[in-house]
Formats: sequence, C-alpha cells, structure tokens
Amino acid sequence: MDARAIIARLRDRQPVTADELRWFAQGLADRGVSDAQAGAFAMAVLLNGLDRDGRVALTLAMRDSGHVLRWALDRPVIDKHSTGGVGDCVSLVLAPALAACGAAVPMISGRGLGHTGGTLDKLESIPGFTTGLDEARLRSVVDQAGCAIVAANAEIAPADKRLYAVRDVTATVESLDLITASILSKKLAAGLQGLVLDVKLGSGAFMKTPQDARALAQALVETANSAGCPTAALITDMSQPLAPDLGNALEVASAMRVLTGAARGRLHELTVTLGGVALAQAGLAADVVAGADALAAAIADGRAAQAMGRMVATQGGPLAFVEEWARFLPEAPVIREVPAPQAGHVAAIDGQALGLAVVGLGGGRQVETDRVDPAVGLSEVVPLGAAVERGQPLARIHAAREDAADAALRAVQGAITLGAQAPDLPPLVHEGVG
Ligand code: URA
Repeated sequence: MDARAIIARLRDRQPVTADELRWFAQGLADRGVSDAQAGAFAMAVLLNGLDRDGRVALTLAMRDSGHVLRWALDRPVIDKHSTGGVGDCVSLVLAPALAACGAAVPMISGRGLGHTGGTLDKLESIPGFTTGLDEARLRSVVDQAGCAIVAANAEIAPADKRLYAVRDVTATVESLDLITASILSKKLAAGLQGLVLDVKLGSGAFMKTPQDARALAQALVETANSAGCPTAALITDMSQPLAPDLGNALEVASAMRVLTGAARGRLHELTVTLGGVALAQAGLAADVVAGADALAAAIADGRAAQAMGRMVATQGGPLAFVEEWARFLPEAPVIREVPAPQAGHVAAIDGQALGLAVVGLGGGRQVETDRVDPAVGLSEVVPLGAAVERGQPLARIHAAREDAADAALRAVQGAITLGAQAPDLPPLVHEGVG
C-alpha cells in the first residue's frame, strides 16, 4: 500500500478501506509513514471527516497498533473517561469506589492538556506514587486493589501516541474523528468490558456548545459500541469547576475529603451518578439508581477509601495515605486570598481562564518538557450564584512565589463575573447518550 494514495483519497473525499486505515496506523506505530504523511493524513481527516465505518475502522486500527490487554477475572473490567475539565477529580474517587463495588478498573489516564488537569499529574503529587507500570505490575495492582491508575505505556496504542504528537503541532487536534479514535484506541486497548464517558460542556470544557458536546458524545458512544465495548455517556456541566479546588495536590485533597466522608457536593454527586451508570451497565446493579446507591454506600462506609489506600500503597505511595493524607501532600509557600472587587452574585465563571491561571502558577505545562509543581493551584473557588460582599474572598491562591500569586490574582478576578442577580444554575447532568 501507499501512504500517498490513502491521503489523496481522504483529500478527495473518496472512501478508504479498513485495511488501508489499519496499514496506515501500523505505519504510524512503526514509523513506516513519515511525520509529513501523518500530518497530511490528520489534516485530510479533520477537513473532510470519516464516515461512521471509517471512524470505527480507524479506532480499531489504532487500538491494534499495539498490545491489547485481555483479562480473565471473576469481575467485570470497566472504566470511566472524561473529556476534560477543571476541578474534575472524579477518577480519583470513582476508580476505588467501583473497585469496592466489585469491578476491576484498569484506568489508563492522561496528563494535563491545555487548561485541563490530568489524573496522572494529580496522583504524582502523592509521594512515591508511580504511574508508569508495566503490564505485569498493572495486573498485580488490579488484583490487589481492584483498581489501578496508570499512564499508557509504549505498547498501548502507539499509533495514537505518534499521531497525537503530530496533531498537537499541526492544528489538527479539533477533529471529532481523530479525538474519538484517539480516546477510544487507548481505552479499548485496556481490554474493557464496559465504559462510561463523562463529556464535559461549558466554559471549563473543550466543548463549549451543547451541539458540539452531543456530537462528541454520540461519536464516542457509537464507535465504542460498534467496537464491542458497551458504552454510555453523560453530558455534564462544566460552566464552573466541578469541585472548588484546582491543582494537583489540591484536587487529591478534594478527592480524599469525599472518599473519607468529610465532604460531599458536586464531586460526590457526579461520581455517584457516573458510577451508577457504570455498575448497571456491568450487571453489578439492577439499574442506575441502585448502582448510584451502591456506590454512595461504598463511599459512606469506607470501602472506597480502603480500595484507594490499597491502590496508593501498591503503586508505591505511603501505606498510611488514607488515614494521614493531609500530612503527605505538598503545600505551597505562598497562600493568598483573592478579594471580590465589588459586591454581587457570581454570575459566570470562565473555567478555561481559571485552568490557565493554574497552569500559569506552574500546576500544568506550557511546553511538554515543563515540570509540574504539585502544590500550586486555587482552592475554595466561589460557586456560581454565591453572593459576595466587596473584599470577600473569591478563591485562595496557592503559589510558589509572590509574583506568580499576583498574576493569578488578576486572572481569577478576570475569570469570575459578579452581577446584580444570581444566574439560573445549569443542571449537573445535561443529558445521557446511549
Ligand atoms: N484526549 C485524547 O486522548 N485524545 C484526544 O484527541 C483528545 C483528548
């Protein structure tokens, strides 16, 4: 086969076969196709799109470009994936809670992308926690803890690893087909028997309109189901941070407060809702309501926290993490309140701007090689609709230096709009797909 012929057909809106896509994905993985050809392929797909069969074929081809895990467990193997938001640390609560409810959860996660935080970066704020496990260790952690949260190793969907890097520098990230194939190739390579997707919608999400969020949810659900993995999606609200804390160690703290019963709120509510869908889909609950109840019970009686403790310990973290988590998490040297410049109700929150403020503090990467500072971020961000007086805190900044805190203060004040009236609050779950 010839890469040029495949690219030319995509360019001319002619059909390409599953075999050709499989050949191209293999070429991405083994470098049989060049960077230039990978970039041209990505641009042709972005501009002209694939049809439904093509999207499924590309997803399977990228999944099969590397190793696909197979499990022989007495528990269903399931997972959750979020399209990315701010203050969204659901994975840290949900993975152990699902494990406590009888599922096996081999969660292959990512790092921060753009303004959104990454689960791996968050977990690495726990001293000793390692996310780079080989397959044998991944299996051993899942055996012992019921869940593991790891980075995709070089054998998992290598075609995606290569194409993602090319897309990042060729303005071809924003393609429904490529995003779908990218996300699902890694998830399907984990050998899942069920998947629930959290498609975020709003100012802190990549999808800013209901139409875009719905299109992505439908493409993901349709493709994953066609690839043989029972999948459903919820489109959920990201018009404000999910939890009031943003930043790596701060989000681990948020998750630990929910896991240990010290906090509830939107993080707890969404975790339980997504978990209910996942448990019902896997046959571990009669329906989504029973699933949500089971998940809430596992959090309330401490079984989810115990599973978290086992996962942290088997992935190299402290043995007493669940009991003494606050002692182990790093703290920033500069802590500063952001005063409200005037009185009013919180009318709008620009989640993307808040996420970028955390990146600016060092909590995310500006370039790939940046080191993430686990301690920095924002805490106690006021929720939408809250009434504040002039000078009352809108958030608390955790910074490495005073000048970084100054910049973050301006960014937070610019990101939170105060108005005369409280806005209508959007529902936490907009709709379900699949
Ligand atoms: N996450 C991925 O893994 N891939 C994309 O293309 C976008 C988000």
